[in-house]
Amino acid sequence: MLNYADKNRLEIFKALCETNKYFNVGYPEDFDFDYSELKDFLDYSLNNCGDHEAYCNYILNTFQFEKEAVDWFIRLFKGDPKDIYGYVTHGGSEGNMWGLWIAREKYPDGLVYMSKDSHYSAAKNIRMLGMTSVIVDIDDRGVMVYDDLAAKLDTSKPAIIFATIGSTARGAVDNVTDILNVLKTSGVKDHYIHGDQALSGAILPFVEDPQPYSFEDGFDSLTVCITKGFGSPMPAAIALAKRENLENIACEVDYIKSNDLTVAGSRNGFTPLVAWYITKAMSMEAMKERVQYKLDLAQYVVDELKKNGVDAWRSKNSITVVAPRPSEAFIHKHKLAPFDNSIHIITTAHNSIASLDRLVYELLLDYDITSNSQHRLSGSGQ
Ligand SMILES: Cc1ncc(COP(=O)(O)O)c(C=O)c1O
Repeated sequence: MLNYADKNRLEIFKALCETNKYFNVGYPEDFDFDYSELKDFLDYSLNNCGDHEAYCNYILNTFQFEKEAVDWFIRLFKGDPKDIYGYVTHGGSEGNMWGLWIAREKYPDGLVYMSKDSHYSAAKNIRMLGMTSVIVDIDDRGVMVYDDLAAKLDTSKPAIIFATIGSTARGAVDNVTDILNVLKTSGVKDHYIHGDQALSGAILPFVEDPQPYSFEDGFDSLTVCITKGFGSPMPAAIALAKRENLENIACEVDYIKSNDLTVAGSRNGFTPLVAWYITKAMSMEAMKERVQYKLDLAQYVVDELKKNGVDAWRSKNSITVVAPRPSEAFIHKHKLAPFDNSIHIITTAHNSIASLDRLVYELLLDYDITSNSQHRLSGSGQ
């Protein structure tokens, strides 16, 4: 039992969580979830070590739910569970590590090509895996410059493409069809494409006119965040990859009497329940509406800022609104994530027109107070 002082600390921390649960506009985590039907399972030591398709001696696992959730995501990305395998990871970074690991085992002398705007987990994982990377330029919207990729390709070695499908800073999507065209015309013999779909993997499958995101489009592996796209009380993502490439990473583990195809040993057994719950509790229609709601909010913020002469924009199918950098006080107050001379506002599902109106109003005041005329669109009546 906790003593009085420690209980009090938890009460104070709970009040902080309650007050701030809808705070974030700088990060893509959604807070519009309710997993109260799963609360009972926090009373058990759930552990999904190993392969959810194999038998495991540790009985308190959620393998049956993980398998169903993963199969649902495989179909979402136009794959067949016969050909594609996947599991629930600790987060997007682990999903990226898994994809790069599979690629490295298939092509040990491959070079990893990734854009300047790739998430930092790419560089971190590449370093841990002892791989070599080539950084490709981005355009002014954060998308990989395909001519630069063509110019930098070493055609004597396999090309491992780390494509960003929804960049952290600008919500930019590298177009895999264009990348494949570059690979084809370059004459490179072997290639592997991993999609870091942490952010836009939870958007593109639900919109009318998506950029390429599926296995049919040419991905060999991909990762999509549960936390960012759907909401989760703890970090979680789905990682998917072609079964044909998994042979080299499989290992038989006597200790758990199971096969292991994953990065970790012990794995969270609760987050697969969350993933499963999402696929059961929400219809495809509801998911599409939810994504459209977020996209509409993003467009609303762009329109409001532009109406007031601010040079704000978002990419196609993106919930990331890019705007000029305000004062440090504003960034600190709203816990924004600045980059270059910009900030972004990410319109997650727990936001509303009213909450964003307040933010836009304060942002406009801040621009005026800091009299940053460079924030303004030219000819906007300044
Ligand atoms: C594009 C992208 N990839 C990967 C990640 C890493 O995800 P996680 O923080 O769940 O490891 C992020 C996180 O923000 C991201 O934006």
